[in-house]
Amino acid sequence: MKNRSLVSALDLKKREILDIFDLADEIKKGRRLEIGRTVALLFFEPSTRTYYSFNTAAALIGCRVIGFQNPSRTSTKKGESLQDTARMFVGYGADLIVIRHSRAGAPLYLSQVLDVPVVNAGDDSREHPTQALLDVYTIRERFGDLDGLKVGIMGDLRYGRTPSSLAYLLSNWKVHIDFIAPDLLQIDKRNDSLEERLKRLGVKYRKREELDADIDVLYVTRVQRERFPDEAEYERVRNSYRLDPSVLPRDSIVLHPLPRVDEIPPSFDSDPRAWYFRQAENGRYVRAALMAGILGWSDGQ
Ligand code: CP
Repeated sequence: MKNRSLVSALDLKKREILDIFDLADEIKKGRRLEIGRTVALLFFEPSTRTYYSFNTAAALIGCRVIGFQNPSRTSTKKGESLQDTARMFVGYGADLIVIRHSRAGAPLYLSQVLDVPVVNAGDDSREHPTQALLDVYTIRERFGDLDGLKVGIMGDLRYGRTPSSLAYLLSNWKVHIDFIAPDLLQIDKRNDSLEERLKRLGVKYRKREELDADIDVLYVTRVQRERFPDEAEYERVRNSYRLDPSVLPRDSIVLHPLPRVDEIPPSFDSDPRAWYFRQAENGRYVRAALMAGILGWSDGQ
């Protein structure tokens, strides 16, 4: 990963993913690194987990954080371009840029114009590759090997950016994916080429309206209200699915990238199948390991 950008989950080879997971395991057990570099977090969209997990992950690997979480307090309000803003942070010492943006393609664009690596922390409805890393890491933590697992990805598959990245990352294993959503929110309604790519990658999947009880992992997502072009359409689908614990197998787990709205009731949080808070915590270790790899850390340093 040294000096490489991460724009899409498709940028990662299986060996690289496993290396990130191995280092994340060690960091989770208490290993600390002293890399001594600087990471800029440029968040043009709201975030709790991604921003703060990158921020606290940097501390685990001995890196300094600069940047912002509130673009309205920066000169982007005065019309400064994305490239100029990012270049300033490189000038102030950033060795790595982490960006979240409401425009699809913003991280790719920056990766093409900057001479430091760029990590995509979520771009519009397109991708969220570091979320997928922590999702798969959590599945691996629970099941060990992923081959043979049945994964249901349920919710807003049209405007969500986590389902696409998760499906791409899962394509490195022999998993079966059920995409569960009302027709209006299914993967074929996306404006990217997710379905075409999954076919090319040979991913085995089905599109369903209802959850099948034969499942190992259920990944639930919220309806992305802020990305609907038409509020009336959002109102039509906002209550179209809910987690029904009674149809979930006893040995399954439920994940959610969070934040949730009302698709998983808080009463389910104490259920042993509820793994979403553990999943969110894992983001810190996985992002620390990813940044360490990009910043060129290797054993023996
Ligand atoms: N999962 C996720 O991206 O959460 P935040 O929007 O809080 O970063």
